[in-house]
Amino acid sequence: MRRFHRVLQAAALVSCASVALAQAPAPEPTPVHPELWPAAKSPGLVDAKTEARITAIMARMSLREKVGQMIQADTASIKPEDLEKYPLGSILAGGNSPPIDAPDRSPASAWVATARAFNAVAMEKRDGHEPIPIMFGIDAVHGNSNVVGATLFPHNIGLGAMHDPALMRKIGAATAAETAASGIDWAFGPTLAVPQDERWGRAYEGYSEDPAIVAAYAGPMVEGLQGKPGTQTTVQAGRVAASVKHFLGDGGTTGGIDQGDTQVDEETLIRIHDAGYPKAVDAGTMTVMASFSSWNGTKMHGNKALLTDVLKGRMGFDGFVVGDWNGHGQIPGCTNTDCPATFNAGLDMAMAPDSWKGLFESTLAAAQSGKIPMARIDDAVRRILRVKMKLGLFNPARPYENKPQEMGSPAHRAIARQAVRESLVLLKNEGVLPIKTSATVLVAGDAADDIGRQSGGWTLSWQGDGNTNADFPGATSIYAGIAEALKAGGGKAILSTGGSFTQKPDVAVVVFGEQPYAELRGDVRTLEFQPGDKKALALLKKLKAAGIPTVSVFLSGRPLWVNPELNQSDAFVAAWFPGSEGEGVADVLVGGKTDFHGTLSFSWPKTAAQFRLNKGMAGYDPLFPLGYGLTYAKGGHVGPLSEVAGIDASDTNSSVFIAKGIVAKPFKLETGAAVQRHLVDSADRQEGAIQLAFTGAGEASILGPNLSLEREANAEMNVEVTYRLDKAAKGPVTLALGSGPVRIDAALGTPGTWHKLRIPLKCFSSHGTYLGGISHPFKLSADAPFTITISDMQLATDPAGAVCPN
Ligand code: BGC
Ligand code: BGC
Repeated sequence: MRRFHRVLQAAALVSCASVALAQAPAPEPTPVHPELWPAAKSPGLVDAKTEARITAIMARMSLREKVGQMIQADTASIKPEDLEKYPLGSILAGGNSPPIDAPDRSPASAWVATARAFNAVAMEKRDGHEPIPIMFGIDAVHGNSNVVGATLFPHNIGLGAMHDPALMRKIGAATAAETAASGIDWAFGPTLAVPQDERWGRAYEGYSEDPAIVAAYAGPMVEGLQGKPGTQTTVQAGRVAASVKHFLGDGGTTGGIDQGDTQVDEETLIRIHDAGYPKAVDAGTMTVMASFSSWNGTKMHGNKALLTDVLKGRMGFDGFVVGDWNGHGQIPGCTNTDCPATFNAGLDMAMAPDSWKGLFESTLAAAQSGKIPMARIDDAVRRILRVKMKLGLFNPARPYENKPQEMGSPAHRAIARQAVRESLVLLKNEGVLPIKTSATVLVAGDAADDIGRQSGGWTLSWQGDGNTNADFPGATSIYAGIAEALKAGGGKAILSTGGSFTQKPDVAVVVFGEQPYAELRGDVRTLEFQPGDKKALALLKKLKAAGIPTVSVFLSGRPLWVNPELNQSDAFVAAWFPGSEGEGVADVLVGGKTDFHGTLSFSWPKTAAQFRLNKGMAGYDPLFPLGYGLTYAKGGHVGPLSEVAGIDASDTNSSVFIAKGIVAKPFKLETGAAVQRHLVDSADRQEGAIQLAFTGAGEASILGPNLSLEREANAEMNVEVTYRLDKAAKGPVTLALGSGPVRIDAALGTPGTWHKLRIPLKCFSSHGTYLGGISHPFKLSADAPFTITISDMQLATDPAGAVCPN
C-alpha cells in the first residue's frame, strides 16, 4: 500500500508539471511495478514447431522485408501494386475507407476481391522476396459493421446490460464468420475500455463502467472471435484474430476527452482499466491495440513499461501489439512518418494509414543505424509471423471466403435479435407496457423507421452518418418490428415520425435519441439530452396532451439526463444502439410473452452535470444506480422528477475564450517558455486585457474540452479577436484551431491601436481544420519576437471586415 502512495505522489507531481510545461518536453513516465499487476499467459501461441518455421522464414528475409511486416497501411492510401516496392505486412480499412476500386458501402464480394488483390502481390515469387500473407484488419466492432449485408449487433454498452457472457461468445463467433466471409482476417475489437466519464464519445464502445462486467466479457468475446485456444482458431474455420483495445486507460481520461490523459495512480489503472486485459490474454488474444491516450502525461504508444514490461512480461502476452491510427505520431519527438521510439517502447506494428511510405523508410533507416536494435526488430517480426501462422494465413485454403450465405444469415440475425431483447433496460413503466397485440399503436419519433439511427457510429461509415434504410438489406427497423408483432393479435402500427394521426391510437411508441457518432465528434460538454432544442420532448408533450399514453424508446450511446422526457413518458426504455434487428424491441414491448432482462451497466445521472458517476465513488447519487432495471414481473414506480439540469455556464461555454482579459471557463491559457503573459489594465479601453510577449519562436494556446464547431461554421460564425498589436513580428504569426494554421501577421494592422480581427470558421476548414473534433481550441504561434494585448476572443456572427488570409 505504501508503494501506491509513493506512486500517487509521483503521479500528482507529474500531472502538475504537465500543466505548467505543456509545450515543453513530456514528463517522466510514472514508474510502474510489474509485480503488482495480475499475471496472465498467452495459451499455446508459442510452440517449438511454429517457432522453428518462423526462424527458417526469417533467415530468408531481408531487413527491408522485416521492417515491412511492422507497418500497416490503409486501403484508401495504398494500391496492391505498391507492395512490390514496399513489402508491408498488413492493411486495414478505416471507418471511411472503401475496398479497392469499389465505392463506400460495398458488399462482402468487394472486400474479398481487395484481400485477394493484396495477397496476390504479397505471395508473388520475386527475387529477394519471401512470400508472406497479408493480414487484413477492420473495425468489426458490432458485427462486421463496415460491410453491406452484415448482421449488426447492439453496440457494447447494450451488450453490457445483458450480463450474458455465453451470448457474447456466440456474438463473437457470428462476427468472426461474417468477417472471414468478407476475406478479412482481423477484427479491431473488442474494446475493453472501462469508461468513467460519459461525456466521452466512445463510452458506448465499452461494456460497462464496472470493471467486473468488462472482465467477465473479455474472455468469451475473444474466444468467440478466435475460437478456443488450441481448437478452431483459424480463418479456415471462420475465425479471425481479435484486437483488444485500447491499451491502456482509454476510458479514464480527464474530462472524458477522446485521446486525452488518464490521470490516476497505478493501483487505479490496474483495478479499473486493466480489468479485461489479463482475461483476454488468457483467452489467447492474438493482438492488442495501443491507446491514443496518455497515462499521467505519457502517450501509451511510447510507454515501454506498460507495453513491454507489463503486457509482454508480466502478462505473458506472446501475440503482437498494433498501434492506433497514426497514434505513434503523437509521441513527443515523433511524426506520423518517423518514430523509432514507438517500436523501442514495444509496439510491433504501427498503424500508418496514409503515412506508411515515410514511416517505412525512416524505420528501415533506424534499423540500419541501430536506433532500433535488431533484436527488437526480430522480436516484432517473430510475433507478427507467429500470429499469421496460428491464424492459418499461410494456408491458402479459405473455405469461408466469399460465402455470401454467411452474411446476415438467419442464424446470426437470431443471435442479434436475442441480444437486442436482453439489452433493453426498462427505466419506467406506469402500467402501459406490455402493449396488447390487438392495440392500435402510433409509432412516432425521428428514429422510428431508421436503421442507421438504431445502429450508431462505426456502421458503414466511421461516424455512422449518411446511411439510409436501403443500405441495410435484410435488416428491420423498430417500427417494422412493432408492425410485425401486432399482426399476431390483429392490432396495427401507424408510422408517423412527427406524431400525427387521424384515428386516435391506444398508445404511442416514440423512438428518439442521439444521432450516430464515433471518436472525437461524440464528445459532449454535459449529459443533457438535446440541449437547446427539445424536439423529442415537444412531441411527447403533444401526444400526452391528446390523452395518448406514451412509451419512449431511447437510442443512445450513454446514459443522459432526460428527466423532462421521463416525466412525459408513461414508460421509458433505454435501448442503446441495438443494430440491425429492430424486431428485438417489439419482442419485449408487445404481447408480454418475453420479460425485460437488461439492467444498467452504467449509472444513470440525476443531473446533467453528473459526468463522472460511477458506483463505489464517494457521494454516489444517481437517478438509477448501476444494476437498475424494471421487469414485468417486478415493477416499480417512478414519480415526477426534477427538471433542473444542474449545469452552469462554464459546462457549456464553447464560444467565449477570453472576455475582458480573463480566460473564460472551462478554457485555460498555456504559454510556452518563450512567451511571457501578464494581465494589464488597458487604460484606453477601461477594461482588462492580457498581454502576450513572445521573446522568440513560441506558442500560446487556449486549451479546453473537445469542441465541435461545425454548427457554428455553418451559421457563418467568425473567430473574433479584439487586440492591440504592441510589437509587430518580423516573421510569420499563425492562429490555428487544432490543425490547419492560418497566417495572420499581414492582417494584424498597425501597432499601437485597438483592432478587431475576424476570421470565418470556414476559413480554418479551408486551411485543413476538422471542425467536428477540435481537441486544442486555439494556438497562436510566432517565429520571432512579437507582442500582442488581447481583451476579447470569441465566436461571433458580425461579418464586418472578416478576412480569410491567403
Ligand atoms: C480508432 C480505433 C480503430 C482505428 C481503425 C482509430 O482511430 O481509435 O479504435 O480501430 O482507428 O479504424
Ligand atoms: C478513419 C477511422 C479512423 C479515424 C482516425 C478516419 O478517417 O476512417 O477509421 O479511426 O480517421 O482519426
